[in-house]
Amino acid sequence: MSSLLIKNGRVVTADSDAVCDVLIDGETIVSIGRNLPVQADQVLDATGKLVLPGGIDPHVHLDMPFMGTFSSDTHETGTRAALHGGTTTVIDFVLQKQGHSLREALTEWQGRATGTAVGDYSFHMAVTDFNEHTRAEIADIVAEGITSFKAFMAYKGALMIDDAQMVGLMQEVKKHGALVTVHATNGDMIDTLVAQHRTQGKLSPLYHYLSQPEVTEAEASGRFTDIANYTGVNAYIVHLTCEGALNQVREATRRNQRVFVETCIQYLVLDASLYQEEFEGAKWVMSPPLREKKDQETLWAGINQGLVQVVGTDHCPFMWEQKQLGRHDFSKIPNGHPAIEHRMELLFSEGVSKGRISLQKFVEVTATNAAKIFGMFPRKGTISIGADADLVILDPKRKHSISAETHHMNVDYSAYEGWELTGKIETVLLRGQVAVHDGQALVGKGYGQFIKRGVTVF
Ligand code: URP
Ligand code: ZN
Ligand code: ZN
Repeated sequence: MSSLLIKNGRVVTADSDAVCDVLIDGETIVSIGRNLPVQADQVLDATGKLVLPGGIDPHVHLDMPFMGTFSSDTHETGTRAALHGGTTTVIDFVLQKQGHSLREALTEWQGRATGTAVGDYSFHMAVTDFNEHTRAEIADIVAEGITSFKAFMAYKGALMIDDAQMVGLMQEVKKHGALVTVHATNGDMIDTLVAQHRTQGKLSPLYHYLSQPEVTEAEASGRFTDIANYTGVNAYIVHLTCEGALNQVREATRRNQRVFVETCIQYLVLDASLYQEEFEGAKWVMSPPLREKKDQETLWAGINQGLVQVVGTDHCPFMWEQKQLGRHDFSKIPNGHPAIEHRMELLFSEGVSKGRISLQKFVEVTATNAAKIFGMFPRKGTISIGADADLVILDPKRKHSISAETHHMNVDYSAYEGWELTGKIETVLLRGQVAVHDGQALVGKGYGQFIKRGVTVF
C-alpha cells in the first residue's frame, strides 16, 4: 500500500479547524497532526489551502429514463464531473417502474453503474408503486445497504404515489429504521394548472414556472411532514425551494418533530427571472422551478438556522437537443439542469467567500450532514482517523469562471455560463488516490465503488 502526506493545509471539518498534516495509508486516513514526523511515498503541499472532506451529493439522476429520454450524464461521465468539482460520493435514484418490482429496477441501475462509475456512489430506491409486493421487498433492499426510499407526490401516472401509499410506505420503512425522502409538490394541482395553461395556448417555459406556484410545494411539504409525524418515520424533503415549504418544517419543530431538509445550489443562487417567453428558459426548467429572491434569503437563513441540513444539486442534465422536445409545449421539456460539477465551488464562492455561511457550515451542508443522514458517517463526510481518505484541496483565493467549454459534464450548455467564482478546487482524493489534480482526472472508469449504507446517525 502506498502512503500520501498532505502537509500544512488548513484542515476543516464540521467541528474542527486547524493547520496540520494528514497522513493517508492506502485508502484511509491514519494520522492527523502538526508537523507529522513521517516519510510518505507522495507529498502534497497544501500551504495556504483548505483541506476539506470530499463532498457528498445525495441528489443526482444519472442515465435516468425520464420524460421520454435519458438524462445525459452516465454513471461514468457524471461521477467524473462530480470529482472535478470535489464531490467524491453521489447518491443516485433508482426508479421503480409502476407495475414492476423494486428488484427489477435495482438490477437495471446496478447494470448501468457497476464497473463504470469513476467516483463512489450509492442509490436511493424510489417507490412509485407501493403495494403488498413492494412492501415485502423493502427489508431486503435495506439489508443491501440502500437505506433511503423516495416518494414522489407529483408526476402522476409515472412516479407519483397517493397518500394511502405514502402511509404504507412510511410504516414499512420505519420498521427497518430507514428513511423516507420526498419530492413534495402537489401533483394534482400542478397537473390542473398545466392543463389550464396549455388550453389557453400558454406554452413557453414561463408557464412551467407559473404552473408550480409556491403553494403547491408548501401544501405538499406540510402534508408529508404531518404524515411523517403520525407514522414516526425518519423523513427528508429533497430539493426544497421556498419560504412556504420551509415554514411548514419550521412549524413542525414546534411539536419537536425533526424533518431533514435538502435544498439545491440552484435555489440559492438563481431565481425565476430566468423564465421568460423565450425558449432559452428551458435551460432552467426543473421541478420545483426556481423561485424568488425572498426564497433565496429564506434558504440561506434556513442553512444558518440548522433547518436546512444539506445542499445537493438534483443534477439531471439534458442536451439542448433533448430540451427541444418541449420547444412548442413547456410541459414536454425534460425537467432538470446540470450542476453536479459546480455545487461545491458555487456554494463556496456565493456562500463562504461572500460571508453568507461559515466554512464549517459549508463542510456540514456539502458533506458531513449527508453522511450522517444517509448512514455513511464516519467513513465518509469527515476527516478523521479510519475514515476514507476522500479529501478536497481548495485554494480559497483563486478566481475562475464556469463555462460549457471547459466543464466535464456530458451536456452542451452550462446553467451558470460565465459565472465568476472565488475559490478553486485544485486536488481531489478519493479513497487515498489522487482522483483529480489541476483539472486532470487521474482515476478511471470503474474506480468508483458502491457504498453500502447504514441508518441515520444524525
Ligand atoms: O426537474 C427535476 N427535478 N428533474 C429530476 C426529477 C426530480 O423531480 O427530481
Ligand atoms: Zn424531484
Ligand atoms: Zn431529483
